[in-house]
Amino acid sequence: MDHISQISRVFILLASLITLFTNPTLSSINRNPLQDFCVADLQASPTNSGYPCKAQVTSEDFFYSGLNTPLNTSNPKGTAANSANLMTFPGLNTMGISMYNVEIAPGGYNPPHSHPGATEAGVVIEGSVLVGFLTTNYTLFQKVIGPGDMFVIPPGLIHYEGNVGKTQSRLLTVVADDLPSEVVLPNTLFATKPAIPNAVLMKAFKADSKTINMLRSKFTS
Ligand SMILES: *[C@@H]1O[C@H](CO)[C@@H](O)[C@H](O)[C@H]1NC(C)=O
Ligand SMILES: *[C@@H]1O[C@H](CO)[C@@H](O)[C@H](O)[C@H]1NC(C)=O
Repeated sequence: MDHISQISRVFILLASLITLFTNPTLSSINRNPLQDFCVADLQASPTNSGYPCKAQVTSEDFFYSGLNTPLNTSNPKGTAANSANLMTFPGLNTMGISMYNVEIAPGGYNPPHSHPGATEAGVVIEGSVLVGFLTTNYTLFQKVIGPGDMFVIPPGLIHYEGNVGKTQSRLLTVVADDLPSEVVLPNTLFATKPAIPNAVLMKAFKADSKTINMLRSKFTS
């Protein structure tokens, strides 16, 4: 191999590595190589680059309790969650991960939603849970899983979980972002402020304005 082609191979390798590590879908971790961690100082005002790091850090900053606290699922969706994310567990700041204890009552469903850009995984602790996600070409992948079974939701795809058993279900989930955003489909369409014009939703759903108003009323009362 001559010298020129060796150099061009090195450049191609470097270019691929730079692409790999700067691709936001492959790495949501925002680590500063000059420090091991940056526990968020939530008392300070956040800037565009997030919260400043806490000056004095103790062991307590790296632990969170409450992921086994019983939750009240007496609500219309029949679901409730305890969230260990940047706002409740500031030690997660810049770590690219958050964790949730989710309880679903029998017949309860966490409505179709997505976490833009972030992968989700979870494990069922109790009960019988239907987990499903939709691909961008409208293919549905779903399965009923039980204790010890793990699932994964590809980054950003629309997904749902529901309790298809007769007893309370509980799962632990992780999302690859320290404060993931959540787009809940029905709310996104029917509960925005200001509202999406009826004409837009009538065309989208091939429905009359009475039907759209009926659906909208479920999210604005
Ligand atoms: C659960 O929430 C419902 C609705 O908010 C409330 O009526 C009920 O008292 C709560 N149950 C417990 C055990 O806190
Ligand atoms: C959609 O994508 C999935 C997964 O990549 C593939 O298995 C399936 O054949 C595709 N379906 C259509 C209708 O293109």
